[in-house]
Amino acid sequence: MRPSTIREILKVTAQPDVISFAGGLPAPELFPVAEVRAAADAVLVNEGSQALQYGPSEGYLPLREWIAAEMGARGIAAKREDVLVTNGSQQVLDLAGKLFLDAGDVVLTENPTYLAAIQAFQTFEAKFVGVPTDEHGLIPEALPELIAKHRPKFLYTIPSFQNPTGITLIAERRRKLAEIAARENLWVIEDDPYGKLRYRGEDVAPIKHWDTADRVIYVSTFSKTIAPGFRLGWVVAPAEVFNRMLILKQASDLHTSSFDQRVAFGYLTSGKQPEHLARIRTAYGERFGILDAALREQLPAGYSWTKPEGGMFLWVTGPAELDALKLLERAIGQKVAFVPGRDFFPGDGGKNHLRLNFSNSTPERLREGVRRLAALCRAF
Ligand SMILES: Cc1ncc(COP(=O)(O)O)c(C=O)c1O
Repeated sequence: MRPSTIREILKVTAQPDVISFAGGLPAPELFPVAEVRAAADAVLVNEGSQALQYGPSEGYLPLREWIAAEMGARGIAAKREDVLVTNGSQQVLDLAGKLFLDAGDVVLTENPTYLAAIQAFQTFEAKFVGVPTDEHGLIPEALPELIAKHRPKFLYTIPSFQNPTGITLIAERRRKLAEIAARENLWVIEDDPYGKLRYRGEDVAPIKHWDTADRVIYVSTFSKTIAPGFRLGWVVAPAEVFNRMLILKQASDLHTSSFDQRVAFGYLTSGKQPEHLARIRTAYGERFGILDAALREQLPAGYSWTKPEGGMFLWVTGPAELDALKLLERAIGQKVAFVPGRDFFPGDGGKNHLRLNFSNSTPERLREGVRRLAALCRAF
């Protein structure tokens, strides 16, 4: 096991004078603090002792019902029995590793992919095989050959506003992917923390929407739509997977916090959430626009970057000779930080890439951060 570079970087970026494009943090000034406080008060006043008691491993039933209805709104038919509430979506990745992976087993992923998924699956000594991708996401037609060659335990994919690239898998490929998964008996873990954060363009239904053969394990979270400090996520999985994940969850933490689940449920049913979501979508869209414009004005020739329609990240590709890790060392000296691309590749690659987060800085800091970063890129 190796420590995550990003967690190490985050220690540095916690200093207030550092402008950070590094973390995957939502905008703290937009957290619904007063509304969550009201929900927490109501829980303690009205159902304090139940909220402080042990609860069922599956999760708080009214919250599971709320999530099942939300799944319907996202185009996924799910009953409350299909929903397992977890300690963030990160816990589902760990449970999936425990359930599916033995040493040497192959996991298919986008290349690059979410670095804490790499970390979670590496714990079980998985091997990673990248699926070819382009600007529309992974290419489903490449899967049959990879499946025949590597016999993967599952495909892990982030189809909407991918972390780290911001790329979204187009609808046609989602349908095709579900079809191939059914034909090839491939388990698919669809990780969707960002789908609700679209600030431009049309929503695309999740892969699970087309999953008639029940091969897709759908994972999502309240980390980006309420606040990550709750550590509340969920998984909607076929019964044979759900039942085993439930046993694994019991063994690891018994259940997700009774108190947090009730507070989140109170907040979600207070009628205030749509307003909050609209506010963060608008803010993130504006911040993307500011970052994109600043990069266009200031980065030297030879740099390009993605133009995501939602989420929190964009992905910069520098000239082939760029070493983003060395650039980061200098950037920290100038009090600006980002995550070097290398961390998102399970194998080699990514040396000349940078992941930039735009949700966690105000417009002024985004502009100033690009000014510092661009000067370093020009000098490099
Ligand atoms: C793709 C992806 N999956 C999972 C997570 C973990 O989120 P959670 O806070 O729900 O554990 C993140 C967080 O940034 C993420 O980007």
